[in-house]
Amino acid sequence: MEFSIKNGNPEKQRNACVIVGVFESRKLSHAAEAIDRASNGYLTSLLRRGDMEGKAGTTLLLHNVPGTLCDRVLLVGCGKERELNERVFRQAVQASVKALENTGAGDAASFLAELPVKRRNLEWRIEQMVEVTAETVYQFAHPQCKKEQERRGLSRLVIQVPQRNDLRRADVALKHGLAIAGGVRLARDLGNLPGNICTPAYLAEQAADLAKRFGLEIEVLERADMEKLGMGALLSVARGSHQPPKLIILHYRRGKHDRKPVVLIGKGITFDAGGISLKPAADMDEMKFDMCGAASVLGTLRAVADLDLPINLIGMIPACENLPDGNANKPGDIVTSMSGQTIEVLNTDAEGRLILCDAMTYAERFEPETVVDIATLTGACVIALGHHASGLFGNDEKLIEALTDAGDTAFDRAWPLPLWEEYQEQLKSNFADMANIGGRPAGSITAACFLSRFAKKFKWAHLDIAGTAWKSGKEKGATGRPVPLLTHFLLEQARQH
Ligand code: BES
Ligand code: MN
Ligand code: ZN
Repeated sequence: MEFSIKNGNPEKQRNACVIVGVFESRKLSHAAEAIDRASNGYLTSLLRRGDMEGKAGTTLLLHNVPGTLCDRVLLVGCGKERELNERVFRQAVQASVKALENTGAGDAASFLAELPVKRRNLEWRIEQMVEVTAETVYQFAHPQCKKEQERRGLSRLVIQVPQRNDLRRADVALKHGLAIAGGVRLARDLGNLPGNICTPAYLAEQAADLAKRFGLEIEVLERADMEKLGMGALLSVARGSHQPPKLIILHYRRGKHDRKPVVLIGKGITFDAGGISLKPAADMDEMKFDMCGAASVLGTLRAVADLDLPINLIGMIPACENLPDGNANKPGDIVTSMSGQTIEVLNTDAEGRLILCDAMTYAERFEPETVVDIATLTGACVIALGHHASGLFGNDEKLIEALTDAGDTAFDRAWPLPLWEEYQEQLKSNFADMANIGGRPAGSITAACFLSRFAKKFKWAHLDIAGTAWKSGKEKGATGRPVPLLTHFLLEQARQH
């Protein structure tokens, strides 16, 4: 998909298609009005006949509209003008791309960026147009999986802006949108790969490719390194698998030398069968997505490097499989984490926190300004928040606020949940410093409580992406979330320093 920015009149575009918005009660957008004028009221007469009501997400494709130079005009319903919010805007953009699928319209000039979205400026609208369009045309393809399908439809989109002096800021927004879309694509591709291809070693190779292409430093800790460091929690999860574990560390250094880094830690369980506390068979395939946190770290690094942000950023990915085996963790086993704290493994399926806690302790050596971990951590988070928001926890109010705001701006939302002291009690063990589970009540919170015990030396936040990282059902696949949220968070960091 190619994108560009231009400023021109709708009726004068020679593209295969011109895309314009129409509202309910026969109200036209500015671009639609221009076409209506050029065509002597063709659009108004059509709306009067009732063929297009302007409901959000509906479309009508017209050919040879009088007075225009393009082959087609696509009318896109945007609902009531006064109710045009972020969701409706994204829906309209997505509908416009889908309407051109399997048509001969390979290139289009879209005038949707002019639409008055509540609370949002032109830059926001352009960035979202790029991201939503790229997301809509995405296909998963891999030589060992599904081969690339021939796709007919939009492949070049010209985003039209209302005024010539909008062009400069529109270009910046385009750049942001492209970088985020690239990061999201990488995260989706990795997430969608099956567990037999996307192993811990494969993630390490992909990280090395990224490092080479974008000039990052990479370091990969092997099992022997972890043994020396005393990473007993991480290693205990890897025991059940024939795939060797990896702790992948990527350094992006483009901030001031004395500035402490932001560290992103992504859960990289390349398949989670639950271990001896085996999961039920139904939908177990979806546990290949249990490395989506890791994928989002790579995707975010890609976006940040693409934008050349002047920050210091470290990506860490503890990666292994969680399988049942004669050598695997058993319920009741007690392991010693790198921090020295002992953990009673009451449920081997609560493995994410076990690999994250050792990565967090290792992160102390980087003297981070902030640590954010991203993990498909708990089914309970899906019950709490569904698929619209990631769960957000942390030990610093400002950081939680910054991440909430970033998610809001990116339309990749996260919602805070409490981390009160009272919940910590649920992790009490009679035999070790803590148990790895806290019972059924507030499962996402007790998981975050567990992690908080390894976050005493830095500002820390935790994103539980169990409900947002992938979709089930007919559209099964990774979403690439929360790459947009994290990239916006880091854009803001770069802006402030
Ligand atoms: N990767 C899962 C969490 C998960 C489950 C995400 C289903 C999305 C859908 C995690 O490792 C896990 O198994 N968590 C357990 C924790 C429990 C044993 C305390 C869970 O959520 O059931
Ligand atoms: Mn699990
Ligand atoms: Zn898991």
